[in-house]
Amino acid sequence: MCGIVGYTGFRQATEVLLTGLYNLEYRGYDSAGVSVFEDGVIQTVKTQGRIQKLADKLAAAPLHGNCGIAHTRWATHGVPSDVNAHPHCSEHVALLHNGIIENYLEIKEELLAKGYQFVSQTDTEVAAHLISSLYTGDPLEAIAKALERIEGSYAFAMVFQDHPNRVYGARKDSPLIAAVGQGENFILSDISATLKYTKDFYVLDDGDIVEISPETIRIFNHQLQPVSHPLNTAHWNVEQAQKGGYDHFMLKEIFEQPEAFVKTVARHILPDGLPSFVRDNIPEDLFQGCRRIQIVACGTAMYAGMVGKNLIERFARIPVSVDVASEYRYNNPIIDKGDLVIAISQSGETADTLAALRLAKQQGAKTLGIVNVFGSTIARESDHVIYTLAGPEIAVASTKALTVQMAMLYLLALCLGMENGQLDRERCRTLTAQLLDCQNHIQQALSLAEPISAIVPGIIDRESLFFIGRGLDYALALEGSLKLKELSYLHSEAYAAGELKHGPISLITDGMPVIALGTQQSVLPKTVSNMKEVKARGAKTLLICKKSAKVDTDAYDFRIDLPDCPDEFTPFAAIVAMQLLAYYKAVQSGCDVDKPRNLAKSVTVE
Ligand code: G6P
Repeated sequence: MCGIVGYTGFRQATEVLLTGLYNLEYRGYDSAGVSVFEDGVIQTVKTQGRIQKLADKLAAAPLHGNCGIAHTRWATHGVPSDVNAHPHCSEHVALLHNGIIENYLEIKEELLAKGYQFVSQTDTEVAAHLISSLYTGDPLEAIAKALERIEGSYAFAMVFQDHPNRVYGARKDSPLIAAVGQGENFILSDISATLKYTKDFYVLDDGDIVEISPETIRIFNHQLQPVSHPLNTAHWNVEQAQKGGYDHFMLKEIFEQPEAFVKTVARHILPDGLPSFVRDNIPEDLFQGCRRIQIVACGTAMYAGMVGKNLIERFARIPVSVDVASEYRYNNPIIDKGDLVIAISQSGETADTLAALRLAKQQGAKTLGIVNVFGSTIARESDHVIYTLAGPEIAVASTKALTVQMAMLYLLALCLGMENGQLDRERCRTLTAQLLDCQNHIQQALSLAEPISAIVPGIIDRESLFFIGRGLDYALALEGSLKLKELSYLHSEAYAAGELKHGPISLITDGMPVIALGTQQSVLPKTVSNMKEVKARGAKTLLICKKSAKVDTDAYDFRIDLPDCPDEFTPFAAIVAMQLLAYYKAVQSGCDVDKPRNLAKSVTVE
């Protein structure tokens, strides 16, 4: 949510800043701006709209200089417009922000009384004026004083008029890193912004303030005492963060799933064929005597959690609850000391998931993060972390991250099952081998891309539609429906197939599309009955099921056949089919697949 780039070094700043912004565009894309020192004076250019619009403006009137800051925005306070775009400027400082300043009104009133004038509707402009009002020559001092006043979440990047060649930053509850180059340094929301220039970075802690010059990075705590952090190196490469010949990042990421899956799973299988998390330094006693598990996550990661619940309860017979993190944190959850709370997050920065994790920790639960981004806040704050190995996921709609999250939850379910005696080693070995074999199912599902693209115009031709499924298929129906609505802006609802009769069936009219997930052999006849019920009322149906499933042809108008495999392993192929459905619908409708309207990939505000 909002992307930040700060640069000081020997290159043309606008080139580095724009490159960084393009790489961070998934974080928000409703307006963008830069401030650059040109001949020692801060010059600011900003615009409503995409980064390309900013680049066009800068091409028409270039800014020359080697130090500056840049921002791509996902609006919270104030509509996306030129004036609300960041950076915001005050007498001494140009500042940009990711987060929400909660007490901005109170501070604004004080500043208005002192004669400061506001041109935007943002909370951010308040921070710019506040810091300026506290500035007496030392930026660090002014920032530290301002932070004492500011409540809420923030990652700031700033340049001070009196200090050319230096960029300042500060963070609390919003991600910020300082990346290290040779004769150049960076302040960034995340390292994907500058993989082209460097992979080495320091992760800032909450309360940290940072100052970079071309040669130095100095980090302080909020009392301005120097602090040091370990240097991290990103394992991602530039190619991974590029489209590589695909039309969209989303399609590329869908096709990267077999590789991401194998990487993630193989790392957790020991030579004896059993699953293990020793390579992640997970202590054995984390799983021993585990009586109850709570999973917290948002969006697609939450649906991975629902699949995880099914598997852990199936293989380990341990009760699992799955909560939307934004609800969990405010619902006074019952957390016992021995509970294991699992936070699932691709970015590792989602504000609600992080808050839920912190709450669980405070109340004495053991916490485990399943996270894709190395060094992210959830990864660092969980007692234990297991990294999924999806590589960078750029498209806003999550695809490969979900697949590897599910893979991790399978492994976890098998480990837990073995640990508490529900699975003997032989059974566990067989299941682990079957899990690994899912890479072939994913591959086979990918080969359905063309037929799925061809089915789309026939089935998804209304503004409103349903997904239905039972058991594991229900969790996947929810995800399939989410993918379709976020990408194509269609009204799509997912229901447990048995629930249709309890209300939603009243919406079935002639030609209404219903997409049924029927991969669970054990409940397929029930789902097929539900399909017939909607067909009898005029619906048009698509059945997604295993190739060998015998289903009365009266029940469906279209059918997608997935590879045969045991019921518990169907989600991998099924999810690929639904990703492809959503992708092709969005492409055929001319939607912006990688950057759907109003969305952002990394949701760092609540
Ligand atoms: C946003 C993204 C979703 C993602 C969710 C949780 O809504 O658009 O794709 O599933 O955040 O993100 P996380 O990074 O915590 O998995």
